[in-house]
Amino acid sequence: MAKMTDRMKELFEKVSTVALGTSTSDGISNVVPVGAKKIIDDETVLISDQFLNKTLANMKSNPRVSVTYWEGHEGYQLKGTVTIETSGKRFEETAEWIKVLGEKKGSPLKSKGAVILTIEEIFGVAPGPGAGKQLA
Ligand SMILES: Cc1cc2nc3c(=O)[nH]c(=O)nc-3n(C[C@H](O)[C@H](O)[C@H](O)COP(=O)(O)O)c2cc1C
Repeated sequence: MAKMTDRMKELFEKVSTVALGTSTSDGISNVVPVGAKKIIDDETVLISDQFLNKTLANMKSNPRVSVTYWEGHEGYQLKGTVTIETSGKRFEETAEWIKVLGEKKGSPLKSKGAVILTIEEIFGVAPGPGAGKQLA
């Protein structure tokens, strides 16, 4: 397991969208934008699935994913393993959060699941001499 620093968490919360990368079990990659994201703790983040299709199928057959986010030239890549919760407290809280979000935006939104990423490795993605360095 790898822990996010305060700065990594701050930037994760600040950016509007992160890139969620998955792959099929035979290695065909897929990257999509996701904005419904939350930090659970230093080594766990949550993404709400409203519209995921190929991504969801990939995560079911291959739960190893990456999440990359950045602002300007500062950015991080979180790698780890997901579980998908479609019932229970965390899912119910996510469903409520997404419902309220939809109401605020004036277009109904419904969460199909809470994707829980346990972070196992963190890399920097800033360009320059330390590019791609493992940070945790
Ligand atoms: C800015 C932006 C934010 C998005 N946020 C989410 C999100 O939080 N959850 C979600 O399920 N889909 C979200 N989407 C939609 C998915 O990225 C989109 O449905 C994508 O086509 C899913 O592709 P897939 O079939 O490869 O999984 C977002 C799209 C954009 C453009």
